[in-house]
Amino acid sequence: MSETVITSAATSTGAPQPPRGIMSKFRLDGKIVAVTGGARGLGYEMLRAFCEAGAAGAAIIDVLQEYGEEAIKEIHAEFGIPASFYRVDVRDHVAVEEAINGIVRDFGGIDVLLCSAGVADNLPAESYPADRFKRVIDINLNGVFFACQAAGNHMIASGKGGSIINIASMSGHIVNYPQPQSAYNASKAAVIHLSKSLAAEWAPHKVRVNTISPGYMNTVLNEKFDPLLKKAWRTRVSHANLDDKMGLILQLNTASFSHTCHLYERTPVGRMGHVNELSGAALYLACEASAFCTGTDIIIDGDATRFGTPPLSSLARLSSSAPRCPRARVSPPASSPASSSSSLSPPPRTPRLL
Ligand SMILES: NC(=O)c1ccc[n+]([C@@H]2O[C@H](COP(=O)([O-])OP(=O)(O)OC[C@H]3O[C@@H](n4cnc5c(N)ncnc54)[C@H](O)[C@@H]3O)[C@@H](O)[C@H]2O)c1
Repeated sequence: MSETVITSAATSTGAPQPPRGIMSKFRLDGKIVAVTGGARGLGYEMLRAFCEAGAAGAAIIDVLQEYGEEAIKEIHAEFGIPASFYRVDVRDHVAVEEAINGIVRDFGGIDVLLCSAGVADNLPAESYPADRFKRVIDINLNGVFFACQAAGNHMIASGKGGSIINIASMSGHIVNYPQPQSAYNASKAAVIHLSKSLAAEWAPHKVRVNTISPGYMNTVLNEKFDPLLKKAWRTRVSHANLDDKMGLILQLNTASFSHTCHLYERTPVGRMGHVNELSGAALYLACEASAFCTGTDIIIDGDATRFGTPPLSSLARLSSSAPRCPRARVSPPASSPASSSSSLSPPPRTPRLL
């Protein structure tokens, strides 16, 4: 009779092994969590995930008073934990610091900060007004830094460290097409590198800093967006036929941004992300399961960054070849409000998040 002896990796290598019990590492019991931009959308959903995982206190920092107050009522009612709303514009570094100090005073500390507050513009670079450009950078980049600095200081001073998660975007990796959004793209690329920089500086203090880069998510603002463009983002085309890949899916004609848009498939999974589809990654980054993970960016985009922006040369080639591609030109359905040529409306100027 033979005997099988299984030696653990710890025994064979001598390396210390963390205790078992993987699911317990996904808990946030006793942790205080704060979310900027948590009054609605992705931020609110990620906050809910933290609460489901056992957070002991929840704070929302946002400009939207009504949404923020409603959100903390829901959190308190559903999870039975203390929850506070701080009406703060993240551009105001003094107000951000006061809010974070208030959270530490009211809840006894801060263990997790998630920065989700963000805005976007779709304006062409050549005529981008300076104040609009600065606004996007102020909210999306400077606002993230102010919140990280204020929370990071408490995490460092506590000696316990903490986890900071900043919501960047696939737009920090690629240049979205066809909508022009130079300020947004630059702000999100900067958030990714800012977070890596903070991660390196604060690793000795056990403060971890990571980012999540979402693709097209079906949030309130995107729901209102031009249905044709949304369809193009979602479009999934067979790889079997290159003619399909070169299909002309959408024509945009606007005064400021005139293009015939030959769109490759935008999101290989063929849909936009659901509002709660970042929550698993956010929880992972917030909790002990990711203790060795810092300075990392997790792209969650249904693989939309796979193909990036088609090079201009190929656009030109496609432009001249489009009429020869029988299945290329897709007429919008007659019933669609955006179907007539006059109703192929310009991208809305209202902020849209990508
Ligand atoms: N929705 C997408 O497709 C998508 C894709 C990639 C990245 N993102 C990013 O995810 C984050 C959340 O986006 P969302 O889709 O949930 O949008 P959303 O508009 O629903 O949520 C953004 C929140 O930020 C708050 N906010 C905006 N400006 C603020 C300010 N100056 N101070 C404080 N709070 C402010 C808003 O009030 C709102 O509650 C943003 O950073 C966005 O750039 C979104």
